[in-house]
Amino acid sequence: MEITETLEKEILGFASGKNILLQGKALEALKACKDFKAVIESLEAENKFILSKELVEEKSKVLEAPKCELEPKVVVEKSSFLPRAKELNSNLKILKEFDVTNQSCCEGKAEDFKNLFRNKFKFLSGMLKRRHTLSPKPIKRFKGVVKNEKLDLIGMVYKKWITKNRNLAFQIEDLEASCIVLVMKNDEALGKLAEHVMLDDVIGVKGIKWGEDLVIAKDLLWPELPMRQQKCSEEKVSIASISDLHVGSKLFLEKEFYRFLDWINGRIGPRKERAQAGNIKYLMVVGDNVDGIGIYPKQFDELNIRDIDKQYEAFSKLIMQIPEYIEIVITPGQHDAVRWADPQPAIPKQFVKELSEMGNVHFVGSPSWLEVENLKVLLWHGGALHDLISNMSFLDSTHPQNATVELLKKRDLMPAYGLRYPYVPEKKDFMVIREEPDLVFIGDMHHHGIANYRGTTVIHNGTWQSRTDYQIKLGHTPTPGVVPVIDLHTRKISQKNFIEEEGE
Ligand SMILES: [Fe+2]
Repeated sequence: MEITETLEKEILGFASGKNILLQGKALEALKACKDFKAVIESLEAENKFILSKELVEEKSKVLEAPKCELEPKVVVEKSSFLPRAKELNSNLKILKEFDVTNQSCCEGKAEDFKNLFRNKFKFLSGMLKRRHTLSPKPIKRFKGVVKNEKLDLIGMVYKKWITKNRNLAFQIEDLEASCIVLVMKNDEALGKLAEHVMLDDVIGVKGIKWGEDLVIAKDLLWPELPMRQQKCSEEKVSIASISDLHVGSKLFLEKEFYRFLDWINGRIGPRKERAQAGNIKYLMVVGDNVDGIGIYPKQFDELNIRDIDKQYEAFSKLIMQIPEYIEIVITPGQHDAVRWADPQPAIPKQFVKELSEMGNVHFVGSPSWLEVENLKVLLWHGGALHDLISNMSFLDSTHPQNATVELLKKRDLMPAYGLRYPYVPEKKDFMVIREEPDLVFIGDMHHHGIANYRGTTVIHNGTWQSRTDYQIKLGHTPTPGVVPVIDLHTRKISQKNFIEEEGE
């Protein structure tokens, strides 16, 4: 009896840690599996997060069957390439209202910063107010509450510290007042949750009044994404993504990128893979397209193209080799010829004239939003992720997707103001996550990674630049040459590695 209960608890804990829901008799089916973790992980990789008994049984049958075949090696088969995507109309809409391009009107005054934070608070607190588990009072009404009475509050985190008694404290403020929130050191579960609190977060606090301006927290909430079933396209098409080409750098992996171009043009790979390449109708390119000039000290010595116009010329020549039936959307990154601070406007036409004149190539800002086959897509280069990762002990640069999931919970791409990464206080806040994205494409970390969270798929792209001296100093190992391809009809993801095929 005890063993069964322990196994049940273990399965429920494992599934909930992965945000997976068990439906009906799925728990019973998982108990019967030889390796329930492998079954759950394998279904998670197929983007299934609501598991039925049938799904579990079907998967365990496949996993428990004896393996008899090895993955086929990449071979070249000579036959004509008839891409399915060429026959399809594109279904792409750029949501210009969420893109700072041509909408920047910041004057850089102190008042602009004040407005940015007020707007952010209003928007994110509005989201929290819609949570049915939270009935917040304005902080100024805190004084009217009797000691030991329960109360809910919403505030922006202004300060975070450890008290003399080793409790965690933070000061939160709304538009009128502020108070102190304590997370008691003996409340281990809440202490763990409180590790996710960053300065400038807008959070909900469920607690008990303890002093004049002091509340003891019992629960913490973020604006969050609602739980949604993954949305699929009606059309059987795929979307692929790349980022961080760094064209112009001596470390740009030109040969490998040409292999990618051969593949997407159906010139290499076995029949099945070429059919997969032929389904790609959309390509997202999320920044650091060129290496730029003067981005960091001594960069000049690491460039083989030392002129920004020529770097964009070389980049354009590469992109022009992608089939014209593919819609290509390109954002800037911190190495591109736009301002470094977020939100970044699109790369100016003067640098990418030829590409801009092509009907299938679209330059947008970072972040920006699209609708692709009626799915909401968020593109962002992601420079601020470094700040987030270095300030949260449970995050690391080899799993950048976890950092992006944190931002989805916060519904904000601006993790904290005043750290290394700069922001421009635009009159409209382009950094809050206003919509519920189906897909999020990010670059910058030079490390690929994929996560499925509450119906949203996060895709972190690697790079096409080999390991830099700076990355060696940091101990960061990039993952170059990997191209994720998402079948929008099934939401199945495959990743094609163009480095592994060296010498094939
Ligand atoms: Fe980069």
